[in-house]
Amino acid sequence: MSRVALVTGGSRGIGAAISVALKSAGYKVAANYAGNDEAAAAFTKETGIKTYKWNVADYDASKAGVAQVEADLGPIEVVVANAGITRDAPFHKMTPEQWHQVIDTNLTGVFNTVHPVWPGMRERKFGRVIVISSVNGQKGQFGQVNYAATKAGDIGIVRSLAQEGARAGITANAICPGYIATEMVMAVPEKVREAIIAQIPAGRLGEPAEIARCVAFLASDDAQFINGSTISANGAQFFA
Ligand code: CAA
Repeated sequence: MSRVALVTGGSRGIGAAISVALKSAGYKVAANYAGNDEAAAAFTKETGIKTYKWNVADYDASKAGVAQVEADLGPIEVVVANAGITRDAPFHKMTPEQWHQVIDTNLTGVFNTVHPVWPGMRERKFGRVIVISSVNGQKGQFGQVNYAATKAGDIGIVRSLAQEGARAGITANAICPGYIATEMVMAVPEKVREAIIAQIPAGRLGEPAEIARCVAFLASDDAQFINGSTISANGAQFFA
């Protein structure tokens, strides 16, 4: 029986690559998305992966979404909390709204995604929680007080979950991608982006598939003893 994997934000960017990599590795994959119906429909058409629409910032919607996925595909054994947004601004210009939007989606969204699947993982004595953090959660970033706070928070979440889940066969790990060629990074003003790429010793942006391969490894049975860790994939931009 193939395992069931849920990927939030799984129809675009890094999430889409993760969904595809897990499908290729034999998982039954559900890709959650928040709003872009057109991109989700195109993704399903191209990959055959079913998409599910809910807002990860909403606990009740997440709980209902998880229940729907489990009714359709079976118990979720791998959960990839990938959904995330940016609302970049220097701190002196950052509004409370920009702060709360990012906290609600990127940080509370991880709680809302993992909490509903956690009891089932504990009962079945197997689970994989993989949270997509960021190099900017490790090093901080000009213009990203809100985002960096959430991505640093991800690391605290997996280190705590790892201790709670270890005896129940559940692992929880974070991946910290560097700058990856996605719409999110392309939205950074070109001059700023060029300056960032100049600071990456690899001399290029990463590819979504390079992050997806890390996820597939952490999800596998072979990774059972890797728990509470943080994998950096950033082209040598920063060493945590
Ligand atoms: N360090 C120091 N100073 C910097 C700086 C930096 N990294 N970046 C910009 N500045 C300076 C500028 O030189 C400018 O200075 P002057 O006023 O003296 O010319 C000043 O800050 C710009 O200030 P503004 O008030 O004009 O800033 P702004 O309102 O235009 O906002 C910004 C700027 C939105 C923060 C913009 O710099 C930006 O988008 N930066 C990129 C942030 C970033 O890396 N985001 C990552 C998105 S991708 C992602 O998040 C994925 C992931 O996980 C990696």
